[in-house]
Amino acid sequence: MEKLALRYEGKAKKVYDTDQSEYFWVAYKDDATAFNGEKKGQIADKGEVNNLLSALFFEELEKSGIPTHYVRLISNRDMLVRRLEMIPLEVVVRNIVAGSLSKRLGVEEGYVLSQPVVELYYKDDALGDPLVNESHVSAMGWASAVVVQEVQALGLKINELLKKILVKAGIDLIDFKLEFGIVDGKVYLGDEISPDTCRYWDIETREKLDKDRFRRDLGRVEEAYQEVFRRVKEALAHS
Ligand code: TMP
Repeated sequence: MEKLALRYEGKAKKVYDTDQSEYFWVAYKDDATAFNGEKKGQIADKGEVNNLLSALFFEELEKSGIPTHYVRLISNRDMLVRRLEMIPLEVVVRNIVAGSLSKRLGVEEGYVLSQPVVELYYKDDALGDPLVNESHVSAMGWASAVVVQEVQALGLKINELLKKILVKAGIDLIDFKLEFGIVDGKVYLGDEISPDTCRYWDIETREKLDKDRFRRDLGRVEEAYQEVFRRVKEALAHS
């Protein structure tokens, strides 16, 4: 597989064309941003953790029948993925109140929701990814009503599968963000599943093991990323 022209550079990943038009080469970076790019930094070896951890999760999801863009690892920092027509939405699933939901509803972080909440955000940096609902998505033509239903259902199914893996790693899945795309009319999970895109709390100590350590200057950022990867790898090895 050959890496060709840089197609797109995001805040955490670079996407390259390959010699096969149906695949992209994704290179994970150590760069970290928060608050829509206002805060910038680096997290040493984040690229490796996010690539390898995402690969583990994608493999597990595929085993449970969730179509993902993941094809195979190329290196510790690089992944081969199926090229998707991306749906311009961030699908957030929440089990416990944290982050923007805590602020929006005035509910303290840690409040346990009686059922998972699914939210849709329109992916647009210039607008700061505004919260939208199903009718906005259909009316704006960002996705059909059927596809919006499907990504929300997939989000809930993925939540159950991830929670089951993470609990074995002693981690509570607080919330996470997914992105989806379409090939030949079929919906696939894209992007990544990592400490950048999820909130993970230690089940016992409630210590934060995710990007909130960077966002909130809590220290031990690299250690948290490594810790999650180590625990998930071990949990899957024993399952
Ligand atoms: P929020 O509480 O800031 O809305 O974040 C909800 C979840 O989505 C959290 O696990 C972090 C993740 N997330 C991203 O992956 N990218 C983003 O740009 C934002 C704002 C959140």
